[in-house]
Amino acid sequence: MRILVTGGTGFIGSHTVVELLENGYDVSIVDNLCNSSAVVLDRIKQITAKTANFHKIDLLDKVALDGIFESERFDCVIHFAGLKAVGESVKEPWKYYNNNLVGTLNLIDSMSRHGVKNLIFSSSATVYGSPKVVPITEEHPKGNCTNPYGQTKSMIEQILTDIHKADGEWNIVLLRYFNPIGAHPSGLIGEEPNGTPNNLMPFITQVAIGKLPELGIFGSDYDTKDGTGVRDYIHVVDLAKAHVKAMKKIFDNAGLEIYNLGTGKGYSVLEVVHSFEEATGIKIPYSFKPRREGDIAACYASADKAKKDLGWVAEYGIKEMCLHSWNFQKLNPNGYGE
Ligand code: NAD
Ligand code: UFG
Repeated sequence: MRILVTGGTGFIGSHTVVELLENGYDVSIVDNLCNSSAVVLDRIKQITAKTANFHKIDLLDKVALDGIFESERFDCVIHFAGLKAVGESVKEPWKYYNNNLVGTLNLIDSMSRHGVKNLIFSSSATVYGSPKVVPITEEHPKGNCTNPYGQTKSMIEQILTDIHKADGEWNIVLLRYFNPIGAHPSGLIGEEPNGTPNNLMPFITQVAIGKLPELGIFGSDYDTKDGTGVRDYIHVVDLAKAHVKAMKKIFDNAGLEIYNLGTGKGYSVLEVVHSFEEATGIKIPYSFKPRREGDIAACYASADKAKKDLGWVAEYGIKEMCLHSWNFQKLNPNGYGE
């Protein structure tokens, strides 16, 4: 079976391509490399001893995208490609709506016209807005997304739901990721943020390697165990494995399904810092800063549905997440070096 992975050279996409290849699937990647490096393709080959077909194509280029469907036959599409920086999306909303929405619409159009109606979409816990209760189940109503990035996820979920409603031949799984961190245990692939990281773990690893002087912790007065924000961090390899399980569900004619992908455990920022220090032996200097606009106090998943339906549970703990993130940073101090 051949799987098309959009955004397959990115952070989560590359780990998923590894899992797919290791599970015997053939893989084709579409990526415009706007937030990733072609070096990832060699790294995937080093890990798996297999090669994925690569198409350097922008999903906005409808003709080129369609050309891939003309030349290859796909059994399922996993759609990671999108822009994901929350702050940038507030400053440049058009860019986010255009890239994420039009890119997805082009993809659905090509799929539809070539009779490929199996799709897994990368959504986010951000669609819940500020949760009314935690842990968050899939039944929790969608909330107010405070930024254009989150809006695109929520809108794409709606578009895909309507498409499934109109044509029952579509099998669509919406995966709502919580906070993916970590890296492949080999240290060959991982997360390479552009510029100064916005997310907690890449910021910590850059402090650890001496690129940044200290971590600013955004808010110490939340109604949480120690006053700092609580999130459900999930190892990217566990997340990748969930895609392989979700695909099996698709091939059983899933219809439309939504799954949270998290561990079900919430860790505060201070707990993550201390876990990192324990796992690596490196001290992370920090100071408290005001709350970051748009942040919520606590967000963690109920992952029961994925366990029940997909037989998937996250296996790695917070220590391994920290250790593997650090391992990637240490082995790739300048990222993929391009
Ligand atoms: P990433 O930026 O590392 O990967 C996305 C990939 O898509 C990149 O390689 C980029 O070059 C490519 N891309 C973007 N626009 C494209 C276009 N128009 N045409 C072709 N390629 C394009 O991000 P990631 O962390 O791997 O995230 C993957 C998906 O998961 C995204 O849709 C993201 O919104 C979603 N997600 C990520 C997180 C997270 O914290 N990392 C959380 C929830 C959801
Ligand atoms: N934090 C700091 N200092 C930093 C960075 C983050 O204290 O330098 C704190 C945040 O305030 C928050 C926690 O660390 O309490 C996690 O922040 P991240 O930026 O790593 O992650 P978020 O939960 O804000 O958002 C992430 C992705 C979103 C996605 C969401 C899904 O960035 O795209 O998870 O739950 F939608």
